[in-house]
Amino acid sequence: MAQSTAMVGGAGANSYANNSTAQRDAVTTAKEAMAEALIEVLDISAFLSNGSKNLVTIADLGCSVGPNTHIAMQTIIDIVTTKCHLQGIDPKTIEFQVLFNDQNTNDFNTLFASMSGDKNYFAAGVPGSFYDRLFPTSSIHIAYSASSLHWLSRVPEELEDENSPAWNKGRIHYTNAPEPVVKAYAKQYEKDIDAFLRARAKEMVPGGVIVMLMPGVCDGVLRHDIGVSIDFLGSILMDMVKEGMLKQHQVDSFNIPHVYPSMKQMKRFVENNGSFRIVKMELQNAWLNKEAPIDMVTAIMHLRAFTEMTIASHMGCEIIEPLFAKALQRKQKLSDMLYDAGHKIGLRYLFTILQRT
Ligand SMILES: C[S@@+](CC[C@H](N)C(=O)[O-])C[C@H]1O[C@@H](n2cnc3c(N)ncnc32)[C@H](O)[C@@H]1O
Repeated sequence: MAQSTAMVGGAGANSYANNSTAQRDAVTTAKEAMAEALIEVLDISAFLSNGSKNLVTIADLGCSVGPNTHIAMQTIIDIVTTKCHLQGIDPKTIEFQVLFNDQNTNDFNTLFASMSGDKNYFAAGVPGSFYDRLFPTSSIHIAYSASSLHWLSRVPEELEDENSPAWNKGRIHYTNAPEPVVKAYAKQYEKDIDAFLRARAKEMVPGGVIVMLMPGVCDGVLRHDIGVSIDFLGSILMDMVKEGMLKQHQVDSFNIPHVYPSMKQMKRFVENNGSFRIVKMELQNAWLNKEAPIDMVTAIMHLRAFTEMTIASHMGCEIIEPLFAKALQRKQKLSDMLYDAGHKIGLRYLFTILQRT
């Protein structure tokens, strides 16, 4: 069964650590809105009087290897510190605990090695899927997840059945695929987000807050720049079939387990779950330098950092170098595809803050 895998570990040229500036831009873009909303809704006195003594626990769900998680966690600690001052609490009396979650296969060594020596929190790694329970009941004050919740727990079952109308022949994703494929992805996503919210509903303290940041689309739209880049990769894989480097079945049976939700969908998921109120939800343009043309080499290196492990686990490691060498040779095609899909709109990110009721 095809599942999502971790990002490329280590600190080498192809690593996620060195190829995740787009995800960092998303965090930077969201910073101000996150600070404003958290300062308004967090009640640190209530956390402390509800049995947590002087401990504030923050979880990063899908933290990967850094550096973005370190930036985000420090930002949240700074926001809580500001709120402490506003509530007349001496922040020096507070102890912070940060729980770094990712899949078992994540490179936690690189994550912990890149941690600052003078960090002002206790740290621990929590391996496992955020679609399952990860933490004890009522133990988390702030959960944060960036660029991670668009990964499905698995490729929808229907896409693995050659006789199903959702067999995705010649493609590796849904945003440019026939209706049965789109529907199968949507069904799996609804199931996954429901599981995510049910698990968090048990783990968050009353008044606890979840910050979610993920690639998203306008209501009624399917295409996203990341999906366009995945289609570009799919077209190269199909060329490799024609060249005899891969079997057709290897591509037909391979699908990237990504979904980009709209605000309308996300609102429905949260309302169906019933344990959270929506504090804030908006579609942001996470393209920081809006005037600069997108650099296709950087875009392809980013694409490699987040797809390499998933592709290698399905088709074998030997396919990776020729695949991305071809991608770099054809970077103009990616530029054309992004342009045709209206890239000028920017990299859309769905930013959501939920509070446990
Ligand atoms: C693109 S990285 C984002 C890393 C970091 N949050 C950032 O902003 O740069 C996505 C991460 O989500 C993790 N991930 C995907 N599905 C997951 C799941 N079900 N449970 C835990 N982590 C998951 C991947 O392993 C990967 O490390």
